[in-house]
Amino acid sequence: METINSADQMNALSRELRRAGKRIGLVPTMGALHEGHLSLVRTARARTDVVVVSIFVNPTQFGPQEDFSSYPRNLVQDAKMLAAEKADFIFHPTVDEMYPAGAATWVIVEALSEKLDGRSRPGHFRGVTTVVSKLFHVVQPDFAFFGQKDAAQLAIIRKMVRDLKFDIEIVGCPIVREKDGLAMSSRNTYLDSEQRRQALTLYRSLMRVQFMADNGETRSSELVAAGKQVLGEEPAVRLDYLEIVDPDMLDPLPTLTGPTLAAVAAYVGTTRLIDNIVVSPRR
Ligand code: PAJ
Repeated sequence: METINSADQMNALSRELRRAGKRIGLVPTMGALHEGHLSLVRTARARTDVVVVSIFVNPTQFGPQEDFSSYPRNLVQDAKMLAAEKADFIFHPTVDEMYPAGAATWVIVEALSEKLDGRSRPGHFRGVTTVVSKLFHVVQPDFAFFGQKDAAQLAIIRKMVRDLKFDIEIVGCPIVREKDGLAMSSRNTYLDSEQRRQALTLYRSLMRVQFMADNGETRSSELVAAGKQVLGEEPAVRLDYLEIVDPDMLDPLPTLTGPTLAAVAAYVGTTRLIDNIVVSPRR
């Protein structure tokens, strides 16, 4: 496994590999890797010839009050984990490499970028789509792997790829959870043991939504109210949103008619956590 810092070098290498007929899989990450990221790497390993994992804490997707400077960075540990998964390359550019002085071009997926997390994190998805476009241009992958954990991000990237005609297949991968159900996240390392316990409320709220849907409830208002009630039982958890939305358009749906995204975001202390499930009406 080799670590590459230069975008030009990465691009030249990718072109060479493609000329040799290799299929390239890209797993974009911000590092501080955990089993969730590694599941994407394993899927990429199984589906492609060459696995490139990008590690780049992207400044443009963090708001001014957010955790860009304190976001966990641990390249040595990350590299060990990726070597064990037999990744071929780590692409680890500097901020200047990705955003040269004077860079003024953005990729914006309108409308979708203002929903769910985009509503409470203005500019967040603009940062994500801009950096992911740059990564796509540099790495030239045939496939790119994203987690369902960030369901809005996945929907927005799928839309961007369609709209801009990137010749890349986007592969969505299931959420990896801790034993008790908490969705794995690099931000879980911010939680102390009391907050770790409180954080489970997000998953429990989604399980309540699931339980009610399994029992025949199809009205979103009822499902959302029940999920919010669970979150309300833990006053230390501050709800951002709990919504039942169309998985592609991210618009709220009044009733469950088919597979639907139930998504939640909440603050535990100052840590913002997200989770989601896909619920379907009882058959
Ligand atoms: P990051 O939060 O590091 O996540 C990288 C990828 O891992 C994303 O596709 C995310 O959905 C996936 N992932 C994270 N936790 C997961 C879990 N528990 N189960 C399954 N997949 C999980 O998402 C980003 O970075 C950035 O926005 C990025 C796309 C790299 C652009 O900067």
